[in-house]
Order: sequence, then C-alpha cells, then structure tokens
Amino acid sequence: MPKRVAEARAELLAKTVRSQQMADERSEILNSGLAANLEMPHPIFIERGEGAYVFDADGNRYIDTSVGFGLHMLGHRHPNIEAAIKQRAELGWMFGIHSTSQVRLANLLLDASPCAERVVFCNTGSEATMYAIRAARGFSGKDKIALFDGFYHGAHDYGMWMTDPTSPPDAPTKLPMGHGIPRALEDLTMLLPYRHPAAFELINKHQDELALVMIEGVQSSNPQPQVGDFLQELAEVCRACGVLFAIDEVITGFRVAYGGAQERFDVTPDLATYGKVLGGGLPVGAITGRADVMNVFTGLAADRGVFSGGTFSGNPLTMEAGSAAVTYLKDHPEIYADIDAAGDRLASEVNAFTENHQIPAQMKNVGSMFQLFFQREPLNSMRDVNTVNGAAEKAFYLHALNRGVLVPGTQRAFLSSAHKPAEIDRLIDVFQTSLADVHAEDLFGDRG
Ligand SMILES: Cc1ncc(COP(=O)(O)O)c(C=O)c1O
Repeated sequence: MPKRVAEARAELLAKTVRSQQMADERSEILNSGLAANLEMPHPIFIERGEGAYVFDADGNRYIDTSVGFGLHMLGHRHPNIEAAIKQRAELGWMFGIHSTSQVRLANLLLDASPCAERVVFCNTGSEATMYAIRAARGFSGKDKIALFDGFYHGAHDYGMWMTDPTSPPDAPTKLPMGHGIPRALEDLTMLLPYRHPAAFELINKHQDELALVMIEGVQSSNPQPQVGDFLQELAEVCRACGVLFAIDEVITGFRVAYGGAQERFDVTPDLATYGKVLGGGLPVGAITGRADVMNVFTGLAADRGVFSGGTFSGNPLTMEAGSAAVTYLKDHPEIYADIDAAGDRLASEVNAFTENHQIPAQMKNVGSMFQLFFQREPLNSMRDVNTVNGAAEKAFYLHALNRGVLVPGTQRAFLSSAHKPAEIDRLIDVFQTSLADVHAEDLFGDRG
C-alpha cells in the first residue's frame, strides 16, 4: 500500500517531538540564514554520529548521506581520528605559532595533490578559494577571474554569483546571489559555460584580463562523471593563454580519488584548493600549487607578495585529525574502489527502477557523490535542472527521512567507507519505495 506524504509527515512529527521543540526554541534565538537552504526536509537535531549513522534528539537513527557535507569520508567517529584528537587535546590544542602538527599534514598533501609544490593552510574551503584568487591576482598582476555556470566556491563575495537564467547558454551572465555583494565586484568575475567549447573561446578572448580560471573538480551541484576531457582541454587552453588555472578540490580532494579530481581525471592545474576531508572532520582549508605562484604567500616582501593569515589557520587539533584521516586513506587505497562501486550500484539500481516505472527522476553520481534530479531530461549543466517537480522532490525527502535516511537540504549527498553493502541495500530500498510513493500520489503530476 503506497504511503501518502501527509501520513509520512504525521509519523515523522510523532517521533521527533524533541527536535520540534528545539526548532521552535531556536527560531527565537538564531537567525538561520545559512540553514534556509541547508535545512533538512523536516527540522531534525542530531545528537550523535557513529559510522554511517546519526541519531537525533529523540533517539531516532538515520543512515547519514550528508556525512558533514561530504567531509567524513571514513564515517562518523573513526577510531583513528578520535584517538588523534584526544591525544592532541592532552597536549594543548591551540598555540597560534607553528606547531609540530602542521608539517605532517603538509607533507601528506604534497604527496597526494599532483600540482602541489607548496602548501598554505587556512580554516575553510571558502578561505582557500579566496586566497587562491588573491594569489593569482598577486602573481599575474591581473584582476579578473572566470568561474563556471553552476559553480560553488564558498561564501566570500567573489563567489556570490549565480547564472542569469535568461542569458544564452554559451555566454552566461550573472546575478548577485542575494544582497550585500558590491556592484564594484561585478566586472571582476566572468561566467563561463560549463562543459561547453565556448568557454575556451571566452578565455582566449579575455586572456589579457584574466588572472585565474577556477573550476570544481566535479561540480557539487551537478555530479557528472565525464568531465575529464573538458578539464584537460581547459588546462591546456589556460596554459596556452597564460592564464592561471585552479581546480577547487574542496569536495573532490581525497574523495573521488586519493589524489582528488586531478588524479581521477588526469589533469594538473597551477593551483588547487582543499577543505572538507583534509581536516578529518575539523575546520580546514588549504591552497597548494606551483612553487613560483605559491611564493606570493611567503610574505609581503616577496616578489608580488600577498597577505595571508588567520588565528586558527593550521591549528594543531585540525592538523592531527586531518593527518589521521589522510594517513588512513593512504594506507587503505581499496576504500576508493569500494566506495565508487557502492555509489555506482546505488545510482544504477535507482535509475533502473525509475526507468522501469516511468518515474521522471534520475540519480547522477561520481563514485560516492550523488544527487537525485527530479526530471527525465538529460543534464549537462545546472541550466538544465528543471524545478517543475518541486512538490515531488520535497515529498520524496520527507518519505526518506521518515524511513530513516537523511539527505541534506542541499540534496548533495555522499557515501562514506562506513556505508557497507547492508546500508547501500537499505538506501536503494528506501529511495525506490519513496519514489514509488510519490509517484503513486501523483505528485509528479504525470499520471493523468
Ligand atoms: C567546491 C567547494 N568549494 C568551496 C566550498 C566552501 O567550503 P567551506 O564551506 O568549508 O567554506 C565548498 C563548500 O561546500 C565547495 O563545495
């Protein structure tokens, strides 16, 4: 008997009483601006995590497909990371000046990141991309940067643009993402079409103004597996045009391969930015790249020197957690084949089901990164995302949550190495059943 969404909502409400109370209290105290789009399909407050699972304030257990927005590659509370954090806590966790903990993680990153000849640590992925932009401007003496249709590189002002949906697909123009973004910044960023040859022509045309072209290793909003040729050609075009090229590996670093998108797609940029997995679950960012470009970070007195800094940058607690996570991944390369196979199995089972049952939805994945799109039409860039099935989408996530599967409000989902075959089986079952429920209730509106 298919379940209706109203029934699922009522069941969920009945078992998440404490979360509901906390949501009410929180709305009195906190402005959840950020949470507006990061909110789960229903207010759920998480109390603890263990492996592939999180437990909410009412004690309900969920398979977690957020895993900290992708950062817990090894699942929650990995024992090696927990031990490293405890060990560092006993020695003091914040000094401000260089600590013995930094060099180890820097060496691990140098070894893992194909473009890395130097490393600078900061605290978030947003800071990392902000510094990469500053470094490119300092090094090149040029001001303009180019980013791709559908990008996300963090919350700083240089990245707060979205595509104007009325602009032509081969020459996208942008709109500010919300208020508070100075108009003066507008001319400093240009948008390029994603996975489209017109991007190369635009770089060529604007080469004298462009300090940097930056792209995500895999777009978090659009996990496309076939991006290798595009990335390689992009690297070549940038090189030929004398424009620095950065791959933002904040999500893909240590996830789509140990060496990130650079390794998976065999492409070497001038700079790469990191975050998430690199910190073992604690706040982190890093910029790596060619020694001559990275030299701008050695101080204002350096040739074309730029400022970088930050109270918590390279803090010992993060460095130890990150080293423990990265060392474990280095010592267990089989994790990557396993997690990719798990992601592929999940996507192919869900896609076979939607095809067999004529449900207008598809799952896209690059290994362990995945997202469901509620449409039949193919997706090349974010431009192709159709929001017409918003009601079906919302209902689907509510059903999934009610069945014990948590997908973050961003809908960008991830597996960890703690998601074993039993959890994948359960995810397949919950996704299929929930899609069937939404379809049976005609929330796609395609049943006539
Ligand atoms: C590709 C990419 N770059 C940068 C960021 C910003 O990282 P943070 O949230 O740590 O500031 C994100 C965050 O999701 C991201 O996906």
